[in-house]
Amino acid sequence: MALLIKNGEIVTADSRYRADIYVENETITRIGQSLDAPPGPEVLDAAGKFVFPGFIDPHVHIYLPFMATFAKDTHETASIAALIGGTTTYIEMCCPSRQDDALESYRLWKSKAEGNSACDYSFHMSVTKFDANTEAQLREIVRDGISSFKIFLAYKNFFGVDDGEMYQTLALARQLGVIVTAHCENAELVARLQESLLGLGKTGPEWHEPSRPESVEAEGTNRFATFLENTRASGYVVHLSCEAALKAALAAKERGVKIFVESVVPHLFLDKSSAESAGLEGMKYVMSPPLRDKRNQRALLNALASGLIDTVGTDHCPFDREQKLLGKDAFTQIPNGIPGIEERVNLLYTYAVARGNLDLHRFVDAASTKAAKLFGLFPRKGTVAVGSDADLVIYDPSYHGTLSVSTQHTNNDYNAFEGMEIDGRPSVVTVRGAVQVRDGKFVGARDRGRLLKREPLHF
Ligand code: URP
Ligand code: ZN
Ligand code: ZN
Repeated sequence: MALLIKNGEIVTADSRYRADIYVENETITRIGQSLDAPPGPEVLDAAGKFVFPGFIDPHVHIYLPFMATFAKDTHETASIAALIGGTTTYIEMCCPSRQDDALESYRLWKSKAEGNSACDYSFHMSVTKFDANTEAQLREIVRDGISSFKIFLAYKNFFGVDDGEMYQTLALARQLGVIVTAHCENAELVARLQESLLGLGKTGPEWHEPSRPESVEAEGTNRFATFLENTRASGYVVHLSCEAALKAALAAKERGVKIFVESVVPHLFLDKSSAESAGLEGMKYVMSPPLRDKRNQRALLNALASGLIDTVGTDHCPFDREQKLLGKDAFTQIPNGIPGIEERVNLLYTYAVARGNLDLHRFVDAASTKAAKLFGLFPRKGTVAVGSDADLVIYDPSYHGTLSVSTQHTNNDYNAFEGMEIDGRPSVVTVRGAVQVRDGKFVGARDRGRLLKREPLHF
């Protein structure tokens, strides 16, 4: 089915111009002025709107057994939420625990997504232990089209690896040309601080942030960078939350370490005061690294604007109120995670671009193009060009609305951004040429999504 998008203002990471776009067989085949089309294609008028490349969320959790429960979304609910918010591709963290077999887990994660996602997807493969089977299993997973790993320096005894395992993972990644993403917090310090706070009777959600202070994240970031430096592997710090950790990453970048940085929307637009509310209200805002003191947001936004922070993801990870209450007696038992897959693009557009703090091209780069380039999806994804997949977002900058649980598609019973106003939203979203969202409503096929095979490129 062909599609003609007329009169839009195309914006990519490095260009901005008015032109029509013609799509055939899932692909952009022509871009030009006043394009004529043979009879038959659907014609969409994008006058007064931007046409962006489909946005890419490089960090989501959908199927996730974690903290005695499971994250709430399915691929069906998460992908529809993603598409409503303009995200046409996500990369899910495949997260076995240390007790699980890596290859079996990879197959399980794939089976959860297959035929159930309305948008395209891939996985980062978590390495949560490094034993005699690990190298062969990881080689097989890379051959299957997964060109990025994930390690956790946090979550001792569950997902967390020790320094020896981190070294082995990075050394293998360097050989394979795979990029390693990392959750950077010092697991030992977190465990000790948690123990000591609980020992003092400090059990509420307001103690989550003090149990994982900024220095603990800065140490993890610096250690990851030092290991990258000495293995010459390429690395990507996920959900960097504070200025102290940013400084550690930037110091490594300055030394020539191949390190890239992601921030996520909760850290950019929420702060620790939300998690300081008593009881359930505070628990809704518990994630790791924690929401920080607001002063960090200026440093993060400045680094994002100048490109020192490379990408913006979500770390989407919904737990409902009943699940959050697992931690009513101890903040260490509150399932960690905040959803945001549906809100990411509109929040970034509203509170960074529309407020004059982020250039429109850097916005496209951080929310789409850079992730495509780092994770082996470019130029198939991440740009508007002849030959690219026709993943397109016709974005209405004149829309005005309010985020709310009552209108969300994410499978959860609260919205962490409840009441925040947005100035702009996708009016039409296509996945490989098929219209999946129209006027803010999902109208497409629930099984449209495909697993994206990715080649290693970090040699
Ligand atoms: O709190 C978080 N971030 N939950 C998801 C797991 C992780 O650390 O990414
Ligand atoms: Zn994490
Ligand atoms: Zn995560």
